[in-house]
Amino acid sequence: MGLASPNPYVGAVIADTSGEVVGTGSYTYAGVKHAEILALEAAGARARGGTLYINLEPHAHQGRTPPCTDALIAAGIRRVVAAMPDPNPKVSGRGFEQLRAAGVQVAVGSLEEQARRLNEAFARYIRHGTPLVTLKAAMTLDGQIAPPPGEASRHSAPTENGFTGSWITGELTRAHAHELRHQHDAILVGVGTILADNPLLTDRSGRPRRRPLLRVILDSRLRLPLESRLVQSVAADRKNDVLVFCASADEQKKAPLEELGIRIETIPAVEPDGRPDLPAILRRLGQLEITSLMIEGGATVNWTALASDVVDKVFLYYAPKILAGSGSIPFAAGAGFLHMSQAAQVKHIELHRFGEDFAVEGYLRDPYGE
Ligand SMILES: NC(=O)c1ccc[n+]([C@@H]2O[C@H](COP(=O)([O-])OP(=O)(O)OC[C@H]3O[C@@H](n4cnc5c(N)ncnc54)[C@H](OP(=O)(O)O)[C@@H]3O)[C@@H](O)[C@H]2O)c1
Repeated sequence: MGLASPNPYVGAVIADTSGEVVGTGSYTYAGVKHAEILALEAAGARARGGTLYINLEPHAHQGRTPPCTDALIAAGIRRVVAAMPDPNPKVSGRGFEQLRAAGVQVAVGSLEEQARRLNEAFARYIRHGTPLVTLKAAMTLDGQIAPPPGEASRHSAPTENGFTGSWITGELTRAHAHELRHQHDAILVGVGTILADNPLLTDRSGRPRRRPLLRVILDSRLRLPLESRLVQSVAADRKNDVLVFCASADEQKKAPLEELGIRIETIPAVEPDGRPDLPAILRRLGQLEITSLMIEGGATVNWTALASDVVDKVFLYYAPKILAGSGSIPFAAGAGFLHMSQAAQVKHIELHRFGEDFAVEGYLRDPYGE
């Protein structure tokens, strides 16, 4: 995770004629070589007559590397057991075809569900040119994502060097949320969340990643404070990892942010709010080779995302607490869906447990669909 994007996750295992594992490999973008090539190199002459087990169809075209199918055939691999075809419609099936034409036995479909899940972001990206979008939030049992504005900071001093929000969920959940960030190429919030909580929005999983997590902020009029932890972290690290989408770039506000290393792009606004268009933002992120995006709120952005039909899946954490009250901040503020028949339907639900907290993971649409 974090090392293959914008390409897919691939792992390969070669077993010799007696079934003994003689080579393994896994792909990283920086390592360039594909998983099956690494496995072939490890197996050496023992690959001859052996079986390749792999989660994705070997490729038959010239990309950053020569076709893997040629190398497999040349090494004398007799059987290929693959979990799924390449989700890229331009090349899907060609690898299997070439292997079969050379007399290699090919079996497709074992552990297919797990394999499809592993590369769902790549599938969405390669088929549509936009990232897979996950909507993530931490809530009380009654669906509130924060106490009434201003109350959190009145009742607790800023924590963790400047964070002014208040934690809803426990430590285990928050550690898992960092794992989720680690699995994504980019994270997105509205400027309201920066103003309310002063978050850092970094990947603090402690695991290596090839590109820094891109931190995307929706901010029509550039209200992002220069002294916010987010802006200051860019100024300190110079990683160029904060991208602000605005609707009109006021030069006076833009210049000092850019001087500190913040990237600012103007996106055409949509009526009636005059805010940058979310589908256009996703297309732009696709151009930047962002394959997966996690939307982390707040309430206004969550509703915009649902209303503009860009959400592929949700990951909703719940703490066993009830905030109640009409002043608390709901998961998604705005018009909402006005009839039960229009409600966003979450499918293929999976439940996760983190100590006293739990989470619901599910899909609003099939990442492999149209
Ligand atoms: N528990 C959680 O998981 C969680 C996570 C995040 C936030 N929160 C809470 O959520 C609250 C903040 O929510 P919020 O609704 O005030 O702020 P928000 O959703 O973070 O930001 C909304 C602002 O983003 C700007 N924006 C720019 N383009 C937009 C677009 N296309 N769609 C929507 N907004 C766009 C708008 O300001 P302009 O019109 O000026 O551009 C808008 O007012 C805080 O209380 C925070 O603690 C909770």
